Amino acid sequence: MSLAMTILLLPTLSIIFPALIPLVSGNGHVDTCRSYCGNVTIDYPFALQSGCGHPGFRDLLFCMNDVLMFHISSGSYRVLEIDYAYQSLTLHDPHLSTCDSIVLGGKGNGFEIEQWRAPYLNPTADNVFMLIGCSAQSPLFQGFPGKHLPCRNVSGMGCEEYYGCPGWTSVGTKRAGSAFGSGPPECCSVAFEAIKAINLTRLHCEGYSSAYSLAPLRVDGPRGWSYGIRVRYSVQGNDSFCRACVATGGTCGYGSDAVRELCMCGSWNSTSNCDSVHTSSSSRGTWSVVNVSAGIFIGIIVWMNIYMS
Ligand SMILES: *[C@@H]1O[C@H](CO)[C@@H](O)[C@H](O)[C@H]1NC(C)=O
Ligand SMILES: *[C@@H]1O[C@H](CO)[C@@H](O)[C@H](O)[C@H]1NC(C)=O
Ligand SMILES: *[C@@H]1O[C@H](CO)[C@@H](O)[C@H](O)[C@H]1NC(C)=O
Ligand SMILES: *[C@@H]1O[C@H](CO)[C@@H](O)[C@H](O)[C@H]1NC(C)=O
Ligand SMILES: *[C@@H]1O[C@H](CO)[C@@H](O)[C@H](O)[C@H]1NC(C)=O
Repeated sequence: MSLAMTILLLPTLSIIFPALIPLVSGNGHVDTCRSYCGNVTIDYPFALQSGCGHPGFRDLLFCMNDVLMFHISSGSYRVLEIDYAYQSLTLHDPHLSTCDSIVLGGKGNGFEIEQWRAPYLNPTADNVFMLIGCSAQSPLFQGFPGKHLPCRNVSGMGCEEYYGCPGWTSVGTKRAGSAFGSGPPECCSVAFEAIKAINLTRLHCEGYSSAYSLAPLRVDGPRGWSYGIRVRYSVQGNDSFCRACVATGGTCGYGSDAVRELCMCGSWNSTSNCDSVHTSSSSRGTWSVVNVSAGIFIGIIVWMNIYMS
């Protein structure tokens, strides 16, 4: 090797080595947690793999034949959309009544979530649940002071308008009953906050509908409502761990205890972020391999330089 070649090689290596270091150490490594299911993007705090995402959302989403499913104690739902900007998910239950069809028989999931998960997921305040065909013995009509009906409009949506839907023609409403004080109303609309769990068995109801309206003006009535369950998700205002992790090139996850958050930095995991090399022994290994090989190469160059000249 001539001196001229060595002189050319030195700057080349000094460019290559710094470029290699980030690849090995984790900065800029590929995000192994982000994924897709059909056309839905799965990103933090959600994940399909265990160990990825936020622990509050573990064992929640499953992808089956390109259909994203959401599983909680009341059942499985199809996820129609995840809106990361508004921190919400839109769920579909096949037994959910819509404007065109009223589904009776008590088969619907309703919406009830495990206690530990409740802080992370809640139907939105402007989502209306319309409970259909509930018996007079339903807790809906019992536990409230003075038997005052909890039924009310939510975000301008409620049963009064819902009765105008074509789905009711096949069922027939006894709606006049409520107006004349004989028996409960055929439909009672509530916000999730009011009862905290939609369990058709416990509420003695035959069916339910759920709707939300994204448009500020609801001129279309119940035909214009969107039928589905709109759920707000939250990492409890504490995404500081994940933000710091991502800012240092990491991917957010959690440990095998399913509680402690972890920052995955490629070849090692950090309990804070990828800039804190002291927390992992494997990180020292990675760095020393790079340093030793860099040292050997530079040694060879220096040696060649001396030998050749
Ligand atoms: C995903 O695809 C379904 C039909 O396969 C469509 O109805 C839905 O709007 C799509 N969602 C998004 C977010 O593109
Ligand atoms: C880092 O954590 C993830 C998630 O818990 C785990 O799957 C992975 O094996 C861990 N990697 C290392 C190098 O410990
Ligand atoms: C719904 O209520 C019934 C009767 O109280 C109960 O057996 C069932 O476990 C409840 N469902 C859920 C998801 O908690
Ligand atoms: C709900 O809204 C409808 C239509 O605006 C109205 O007729 C009805 O009285 C309201 N019901 C309740 C319980 O406020
Ligand atoms: C947020 O997370 C940090 C570190 O994970 C923790 O020290 C802090 O107490 C948390 N804050 C809240 C409000 O939970």
